[in-house]
Amino acid sequence: MVMEFKDLVQSRRSVHNFAPDFKVNKTTWYKLLEYVRNTPSGYNAQPWKFQLLQSEEDIEALHKICLNQDIVKTAGNLVVVIGDIDFGKNESDRILDEWQEYRALTPAKAAGLKSSLEKERETWKKREMVIRNASLAAMTFLYAAEDLGLAACPMMGVRQLDLKRYLGLADNEIAIMVIALGKSGGEEDVRLPRKSVEDLER
Ligand SMILES: Cc1cc2nc3c(=O)[nH]c(=O)nc-3n(C[C@H](O)[C@H](O)[C@H](O)COP(=O)(O)O)c2cc1C
Repeated sequence: MVMEFKDLVQSRRSVHNFAPDFKVNKTTWYKLLEYVRNTPSGYNAQPWKFQLLQSEEDIEALHKICLNQDIVKTAGNLVVVIGDIDFGKNESDRILDEWQEYRALTPAKAAGLKSSLEKERETWKKREMVIRNASLAAMTFLYAAEDLGLAACPMMGVRQLDLKRYLGLADNEIAIMVIALGKSGGEEDVRLPRKSVEDLER
């Protein structure tokens, strides 16, 4: 049965009750990434990568890095969303080629886009841009998991430097989020209350 998007948004939970012994296979992994491909991003830069960790050794290591959170072990699969803070330098040619091919940019506009992409920025600004973009990709991933009948929990309780070291991330790569991924093991606790529509409006 195909779920309405509205229902999917309501049924998605940050799952803490995972069924044991479930490993995501390659076919499902690629299905999940197929959803992620359609995430919007500034310049259409798509400055993210997703790494799947499933081995006992990786799970054991990430359990410590994620402050001993139980779900790291029970989910069976961990996904690290990784952002590239130097996307403007590393990928400016690809990005520019695509804009020129699909948007028929004038030379002046193309030059403007190139200089904007390659502009030197303070690290915090680049981090901010990438965190915004890659967080949207992470959200797409969470909805994709729900749509495919999987269970997921995003995690911020992570020792960033230890994770970076463990994964061997380059200077330009930052770990945006870890997502515990698996199959639901049954009922979750009641959902925490959400703000009312009126409270959301400023
Ligand atoms: C960026 C982010 C970081 C989170 N970090 C953790 C975490 O480290 N551990 C955890 O158990 N849940 C974590 N959560 C899950 C939240 O607690 C959860 O989304 C919130 O309580 C609402 O519950 P729901 O997603 O089931 O509706 C995180 C959620 C987000 C979006």
